[in-house]
Amino acid sequence: MPAEQPPKLKRQRQHDLYRRALETMPGGTDSNFRAWGDDTVYIDRGQGGRIWDMDGNEYIDLRMGYGPVILGHGDARVDDYVNERMRRGVSFSLTSEDEIEAMELLKQLTGWVGKARMTVSGTEATMHAMRVARAYTGRNKIVKFEGQYHGVHDYALVSVTPNDMAELGDSDNPVGLAWGRGIPEAVTRTIIPARYNEMAVLRRIFERDGADIAAIIVEPVLGNAQGIMPRPGFHEEMRGLTKEFGALLIFDEVKTGFRFARGGAAEYFGVTPDLATYAKAMGNGYPVAAFGGTDDVMSVLPDKVSHGGTYAGNRVAAAAAVATLRLLRDTEALASIHAVGRAVQAGLSEVINEAGLPYTFTGHPSMFGIMFTEKAPTEYRDWANSDHDLYDAVAVGMHARGAMPEPDSREPWFFCEAHAHEDIVDRVVTAFSDSLDVVLDERAKDGKHADQAHVGLGKEIG
Ligand SMILES: Cc1ncc(COP(=O)(O)O)c(C=O)c1O
Repeated sequence: MPAEQPPKLKRQRQHDLYRRALETMPGGTDSNFRAWGDDTVYIDRGQGGRIWDMDGNEYIDLRMGYGPVILGHGDARVDDYVNERMRRGVSFSLTSEDEIEAMELLKQLTGWVGKARMTVSGTEATMHAMRVARAYTGRNKIVKFEGQYHGVHDYALVSVTPNDMAELGDSDNPVGLAWGRGIPEAVTRTIIPARYNEMAVLRRIFERDGADIAAIIVEPVLGNAQGIMPRPGFHEEMRGLTKEFGALLIFDEVKTGFRFARGGAAEYFGVTPDLATYAKAMGNGYPVAAFGGTDDVMSVLPDKVSHGGTYAGNRVAAAAAVATLRLLRDTEALASIHAVGRAVQAGLSEVINEAGLPYTFTGHPSMFGIMFTEKAPTEYRDWANSDHDLYDAVAVGMHARGAMPEPDSREPWFFCEAHAHEDIVDRVVTAFSDSLDVVLDERAKDGKHADQAHVGLGKEIG
């Protein structure tokens, strides 16, 4: 029996909004990552684990705003606390008690951070962490891994997410690839690209440039390439290597922090860095972020390193962090999230096995990717060898069936606490299964990739 096509999504209102937005906003939106051309989504509201677009289409949200919404949309426990605080005024550029409590909670949950400061975005957090590392060590260079995303400042936009792996250079000697124009070459030269999970390349880099290297910055998993996990021992070896060469280790926990475990990836993998950055899950979607480290490393602040910001530690962000982190500390929210992720994985496994496709789950149950591939991926370059066109087509097909993962295979699926209470597992698995059936049918008919129309969705749009 041929697989069934879903009813078409209503799109009229959103097409009108798209055309209107194009008059004032490049790509019709505020971020390149949301610019999906004619398919750009204009959102009305969210509740728990579901969202509704401006045409009233309902979806189980598997993007959760690229990860921050850890409890659920419109969580009253957080929103009521934030609202109460907001009514006292939002912007003073003076310090509130919530800011102090937020950093106390961060310290308590991580167990190793001595001092921390709030920023508004993950971008600012990684920018400051890199600066602190340079100031502390008196060195200029930072090692960063291919395929890792640390935000949109100039020092982060190197070797991030090309489609063509040849642009990353020789596998033994990767080259720094600036993402887009406008990034000074002199800045790019301070960033040394490395390959995730490839210790031999990393050691060669340190043997060559160790005296100039201030830090390695690493997403503990390849969070922006489906959450590819470290090989056993990789983090420990990196920890050893940085110590050997007098460099710092920065964990960019913007995606993993307060998600993998209460103490983030550092707790999950049992490796303690010198500095770390947090954002997303820290505030259930409110714009909150922080960078922190050991007392010793952070002692370069406030006298020797610049950090500030009109909105740093603002009322809304600080209140959101307090309410969210208290809940993550005092409830079993993370255990529920991990359980729902595992249940979805079990359902997807059955479907994919039945279809006879090679695949692997990457990442952690709370944040995982699906790679159609024979060989378990270990680094960003492996993404090219997976059948990501198949994934992208299935993901787009899921939208029409009421579930919304990112239509780019590099972005993992995210789960929140509300998903655990909303009985979403069967709906997500069915949406996936029905979409896969249609895509495979079309491929079989064409004898080639049936998803060409969708190429261009997602991250690569500049
Ligand atoms: C690992 C990581 N670091 C940094 C950032 C940048 O955070 P923001 O978008 O808040 O600037 C992101 C955003 O997705 C991220 O995933």
